[in-house]
Amino acid sequence: MVQSIENASGLDGLSRTLRKEWPECQTFTWTLTDMSNPGATIAQALRSGFGDGELGTQGLRMPQAGEALAPPQVFDADGSSVWLITGGARGVTAACAIELARVLGGTILLAGRSTEMAWPAGLAQTQDIKTLRGLLVEQSRQSGTRMSPVEIDRSARALLASAEIRETVAAINTAGAHAVYLPLDAGDRAAVIEALAVAQSRYGPITGLVHGAGVLADKLAADKTEAELRRVFAPKVDGLNNILGAIGPEQLKHVAFFSSAAAFFGNRGQADYAMANALLASAGRSLARSYPSLRVKVFHWGPWAGGMVDASLAGHFEAQGIPLIPVDEGARIFVSELLGGDREQIELVVGEAWAAA
Ligand SMILES: NC(=O)c1ccc[n+]([C@@H]2O[C@H](COP(=O)([O-])OP(=O)(O)OC[C@H]3O[C@@H](n4cnc5c(N)ncnc54)[C@H](OP(=O)(O)O)[C@@H]3O)[C@@H](O)[C@H]2O)c1
Repeated sequence: MVQSIENASGLDGLSRTLRKEWPECQTFTWTLTDMSNPGATIAQALRSGFGDGELGTQGLRMPQAGEALAPPQVFDADGSSVWLITGGARGVTAACAIELARVLGGTILLAGRSTEMAWPAGLAQTQDIKTLRGLLVEQSRQSGTRMSPVEIDRSARALLASAEIRETVAAINTAGAHAVYLPLDAGDRAAVIEALAVAQSRYGPITGLVHGAGVLADKLAADKTEAELRRVFAPKVDGLNNILGAIGPEQLKHVAFFSSAAAFFGNRGQADYAMANALLASAGRSLARSYPSLRVKVFHWGPWAGGMVDASLAGHFEAQGIPLIPVDEGARIFVSELLGGDREQIELVVGEAWAAA
């Protein structure tokens, strides 16, 4: 039974990243799936060559991820479904949540750390952070309240986050589903247990989980601090452990994890992020093995034209000739694969990734 991902390491994400950061050094990860005679298994693998993969009695099995996508399909609405979508109120996961609402209906619980707050009276509406900072500076000057640049920035970000949450909730409701925002840090075990118990008593058992919460703290592996690694692991790895601890996988019909092509191919500066996502992939494979009726999809997304890909990151990808996934297209792919994709194909690489970069 899969109740946590504590026994997986994510080291495959690390070795793929180190191959990019330290090209002079050969790094590989073997995950031993059969511990009955590890010495013999390793000796057999040494004879059959190197590579990241699962090492069992049959030798080394390399990771498999499909690239073929399910064609667009029509699905029946399911008003009784209750989805928990972490990170679903903002960023690219919000676009996916809205598309899911349009196709299926039901109840959609969106979880994120941001709190909802009213837009300050008298402050012009804007989605541009620079403009908003300027407006807040002007407002604080006029009102005689002194705010430091750090406070102005924090306030601007919180207001924009709240506005984005309101927009997502409204779009989901307009699409025909019922959206509920849960202010929740997925990395906080006690908070997850309490919030999900309350939500399920109100809306019924959660039947679908989309784990999209994530943060970046990019830095070369040699310069990484433990605190940065923990920051990246908290939403993805601790978050998933906390959720699976609070709701039993046996009640779920669908599970989707938002991983990154960085986990599958490695990416400079993203050792921790690649590891955290590799752990999600490992959890996805394990869930699929343990619960055959559960539909599991791990999306190793290439870069999207949205979310954490800001203008400077977008320029970086464009300079490398890597096209961004248009948000509408990514959301459609997500729903088609989640609901109608090949059940056997757990992991999917979506978008033109940076395999050779
Ligand atoms: N955009 C891409 O190109 C891309 C590519 C590959 C993979 N992905 C994956 O797709 C997912 C969404 O990415 P994005 O680009 O939309 O990022 P984003 O715009 O930065 O959004 C991240 C989301 O995660 C939530 N979140 C972060 N920490 C959380 C926590 N501890 N508890 C609950 N919610 C938390 C954030 O909400 P709060 O800030 O309110 O908590 C936000 O809704 C991530 O898992 C990312 O790794 C994205």
